[in-house]
Amino acid sequence: MKEQLEQIQAQALAALDAAATPAALEELRVRLLGKKGELTAVLKQMGKLSPEERPVMGQMANSVRAAIEEKLEARKAEIHAAVLEEKLAKEAIDVTIPGKQIALGHQHPMNQVLQQIKEIFVGLGYQVVDGPEVELASYNFTRLNIEEGHPSRDRSDTFYFDDNDSVLLRTQTSPMQIRFMENHKPPFCMLAPGRVFRKDEADATHSPMFHQIEGLVVDEHITMGDLKGALITMMQKIYGENSVMRFRPHHFPFTEPSCEMDMQCHKCHGTGEIDGQVCSTCHGEGWIELLGAGMVHPVVLENCGIDPEKYSGFAFGMGLERMAMGRLKINDLRLIFDNDVRFLNQF
Ligand code: PHE
Repeated sequence: MKEQLEQIQAQALAALDAAATPAALEELRVRLLGKKGELTAVLKQMGKLSPEERPVMGQMANSVRAAIEEKLEARKAEIHAAVLEEKLAKEAIDVTIPGKQIALGHQHPMNQVLQQIKEIFVGLGYQVVDGPEVELASYNFTRLNIEEGHPSRDRSDTFYFDDNDSVLLRTQTSPMQIRFMENHKPPFCMLAPGRVFRKDEADATHSPMFHQIEGLVVDEHITMGDLKGALITMMQKIYGENSVMRFRPHHFPFTEPSCEMDMQCHKCHGTGEIDGQVCSTCHGEGWIELLGAGMVHPVVLENCGIDPEKYSGFAFGMGLERMAMGRLKINDLRLIFDNDVRFLNQF
């Protein structure tokens, strides 16, 4: 039995030395010291010994157990330290490695121009508002003094949602004039950019969806001079101090008098031709149409509960794509919507 115990101790210590993981250690502990372990098996045979031998062997068995337990604890500590060491090494962060470069995009050219226009008008004291793209015909047409049967209400031009032509995709941002005047008392200056929709085939200058920026100013004693001042200020900020503008009489049902604002063509400088050829930018006109505007029609003010005897105002509506095309010298509208990065990266 003495040899058996010595052998158990020698083998156990060697096995513990060889164990490399906490799991292997645990397995050894059970095998060596557990109820079904080798040492226990030997101890069970103690009964067969003579009374003299029993205490000697008992003592020896105890010291074997103690030696194994001590070794077990020592290996546990060593393995724990090794595992920690390895973990630290694996998770080490090298703060000197250069970071991954993340490619930053930039604003879409349309948004760049929109932002610029908004900033100019905010600087002039305008409040920027937003409104619905699905609109009632009463806001889009009727209360803007556009009568039943007016060609702009035609089904061939307008996306209607219903058979009685009462709900539609707004064809202009002008309904925002009505929505704003319903909820605000003059004086006010508002700017309402947004998407509008018309049944147009897409070509170089048309798209069934495009953007407008509506402006509306109402106060006492507002005149056409205020309209011209605001619009010329804005255009010169965008196209340069020396850009040449003109106002042309026009007709809109919701403004009276009405006008359109043109900019002299930056390509041919108003001559309409380049090297004897018709200028492709202005189609030989010498001028590029920028927006529609006018003094708010008294009927429209009345429709919104504003006294036209006391107040007057001006309104304008410009096409954002057209402004962007002129500002960024883009010659095909479709490029703006294609979202080809080779195009967008140029701005
Ligand atoms: N809503 C008009 C259009 O789409 C533009 C406009 C706005 C004209 C405001 C006058 C006043 O053509």
